[in-house]
Amino acid sequence: MDKCTKQQLAENMLQYLNDSPTAYHAVENAVMMLKNHAFQELKETEKWSLHAGGRYFVVKNHSCIIAFTVGDGDLAREGFRIIGAHTDSPGLKIKPGACTVTADGYVKLNVEVYGGAILSTWFDRPLAVAGRVIVKEDGRLTERLIKIDKPVCVIPNLCIHFNKDCNTNCGYNKQTDILPLLTMKEEGVEKGDYLLNLLEQEAGIGKTDILDYELFLYEYQKGIFMGQNEEFISASRIDNLCMVYAGLSALAESCDGEENYKVFAAFDHEEVGSASAQGAHSGFLPYTLERISKNLGLTDDAHFQALANSTSISADTAHAVHPNYSDKHDPENRPVPGGGPVIKYSASQRYSTNAFSAAYFMEACRSARVPYQKYVNRNDIIGGSTIGPALSGLTTIPTVDIGTPVLAMHSIREFCAAIDNFYAKEAFRAYYEDDGFNA
Ligand code: CO
Repeated sequence: MDKCTKQQLAENMLQYLNDSPTAYHAVENAVMMLKNHAFQELKETEKWSLHAGGRYFVVKNHSCIIAFTVGDGDLAREGFRIIGAHTDSPGLKIKPGACTVTADGYVKLNVEVYGGAILSTWFDRPLAVAGRVIVKEDGRLTERLIKIDKPVCVIPNLCIHFNKDCNTNCGYNKQTDILPLLTMKEEGVEKGDYLLNLLEQEAGIGKTDILDYELFLYEYQKGIFMGQNEEFISASRIDNLCMVYAGLSALAESCDGEENYKVFAAFDHEEVGSASAQGAHSGFLPYTLERISKNLGLTDDAHFQALANSTSISADTAHAVHPNYSDKHDPENRPVPGGGPVIKYSASQRYSTNAFSAAYFMEACRSARVPYQKYVNRNDIIGGSTIGPALSGLTTIPTVDIGTPVLAMHSIREFCAAIDNFYAKEAFRAYYEDDGFNA
C-alpha cells in the first residue's frame, strides 16, 4: 500500500477530524478506512476464526474500536505491539428534557458539560448537533448515527455593557450561562418537541420512533490549515483524533513486519476518566488479547508469555509550551509545535512512561528518522492524565505515554503543527514493523 506523504497525511487527517464530530463518527470513519485496507469486521457476539496474515477489527458501543493483524511469528515469543488512543473530546451534551422555554419566548437546549471543556471558547460560535439515536425497527433496538451539519444553535455572550469586567473575570456558571439558543417559541409546539422536530426534519427519523439519544454539540465551522506556510492546524478535536488517525494509518499502511501482532485500540470516555465498558479502564482490551491468543490455539501459559513479551504506546496529545505563558512549563522540558511527538513522564504515574518504554519509543523515532521531545509537569502543577496508566495497569504491559504537542488543549479549537502527526505516524509504523520492540 502507498505510504502517505506529509501533505497527504495532513489533509486526510484534517478531513477525518472534520468528518468525525463525535466518538461514534470517529469509529464509523475508522471502520471505513480499515475496510478500505482489507480489514475484516469481527462481532463480539459471533464466533471468531483468525488466521495468520489476517487483518481484523472489532467495535464496541460504536464508540470504541480495536483493530489488529495476526502475524506469522510465534505469538508467545513475539507478544503484541499495541498503540492506544481515545475517540472522545470535551464538549456539550444534550440532556434528557432537551429544551427549555423562557418567559421571553426563547427556546434553549438543555445541556451538560462533557469532560474538561474550556467553556469560554464555546460562546458566539454557530453550533451543530451530532451523535446517535436508538430506534425500534422490526422489533429490534437499532442505532442511527446523526449529523445535523447545519448551524442550528449558539451560546451568545452577554454584552460587555452588562458585564464590564468580562475581560478580567470570565467565569461561567455551568448550569445557567451556557445553554444554547435554538429558536424562538412557536405557538402550539410542546417544548419536548423542538429537538425531535429538528431530528425529524434534518435526519428523517420519525419523532415517535426515537426511544433515546446521545447527542452532542460541535462547532459548525470546519478545521483549517493556517499560518504563513499552512504549517499549523486549527480545528476541533485535535485531542485526540489526530492520534487516532496517526495510529490507524500506521496500522492500515503497515505491510512489513509480517511476523508481528499489531494492535490499535481507540477507547471512549477518556475525557471523563475512562471508567465505562468502552473506556480504557474496561476489560475490552485484555479480553480481546486473550481471545486472539485462545483463537490461535495458545495455552493459558503461552498467552501469559505473550503478554509478558508485549509492549504498548498510549498516544494522546501533549502540552506544547505556550508563547504567552512560558513559565507554566518545567524549565528543562519544553516541547514546541513541530518538534515531534512528546514523551510524557510523571513520577506519580499520571503517565505510564518508564525508562524502558521511553527507550523503545525513542528507538522507533530513530528508526523512522523523526525527532521527539520530552515533557514533565512543573512540580507545583498537577496536570492531566490519559489512558496509559489504565492500559498498563489492566494488561500489565509496559506502556509509554506520548503525543502530538498542542496549544489550547480542550478549547473548541485546538492548535498544532501538521508535521507532528506525520512524525508520530512514521514512528508508529517503525514500532509496528521493525525488530526489537517486544519486551
Ligand atoms: Co486527550
